[in-house]
Amino acid sequence: MKTFFELKKFAKENMIPIIRPKSAKLLRDFCRDKKPKRILEIGTAIGYSTSLMLYASKDSFVTTIEKDEAMANIARQTFKERNLLKKVRLIESDAFVALNNLQNEKFDFIFLDGPKGQYFKYLPLLKNLLNINGYMLADDILFHGYVKKEGDPGHKHRTIVASLRSFIKDLTFDPNFATELFEYEDGLLLCQRLK
Ligand SMILES: C[S@@+](CC[C@H](N)C(=O)[O-])C[C@H]1O[C@@H](n2cnc3c(N)ncnc32)[C@H](O)[C@@H]1O
Repeated sequence: MKTFFELKKFAKENMIPIIRPKSAKLLRDFCRDKKPKRILEIGTAIGYSTSLMLYASKDSFVTTIEKDEAMANIARQTFKERNLLKKVRLIESDAFVALNNLQNEKFDFIFLDGPKGQYFKYLPLLKNLLNINGYMLADDILFHGYVKKEGDPGHKHRTIVASLRSFIKDLTFDPNFATELFEYEDGLLLCQRLK
């Protein structure tokens, strides 16, 4: 699969969740405008968003984390076919383990699109990985609207919703971060590390 059209078609046919169109535009425009040199992505899937970021910012280098072996194999093939192998480091691992192992590195941009229920647990590690003035964008932050709805989301979603609420609250009240919530599609949180 070489083109974005083919990648999107494959994702749809195989019910693999990838970034939605308006959110993808935000991600693409962000990378085109800011040109972050070192990017960290959590949740590679088939390599669609990784490819999009590198399409928008040709001199970037992406470290991307994916724990699912089948997904990682497809992503490797995507990077090969799009001639991106020199611009991508794919870490096939659970994100929490990988984030701990990366703690002596710094990134200009983190795109968070992995397990929503883990975001709050990842947060101290993510903050430490971000350069001062660096940005983090978290996708699907409103989790089908449950995060903004009053009351209990039910036992099936309780842990994920609680984690996302804590994640948003922590970043919103952290004086070291400037945070903005985009409420379209499934919600995105963009934040910049100020100091
Ligand atoms: C929404 S998809 C990523 C979509 C991709 N960013 C895109 O838009 O093209 C989330 C991915 O995170 C992966 N994932 C889930 N839990 C994970 C974990 N604990 N560690 C690493 N990857 C994980 C899933 O296997 C899945 O491929």
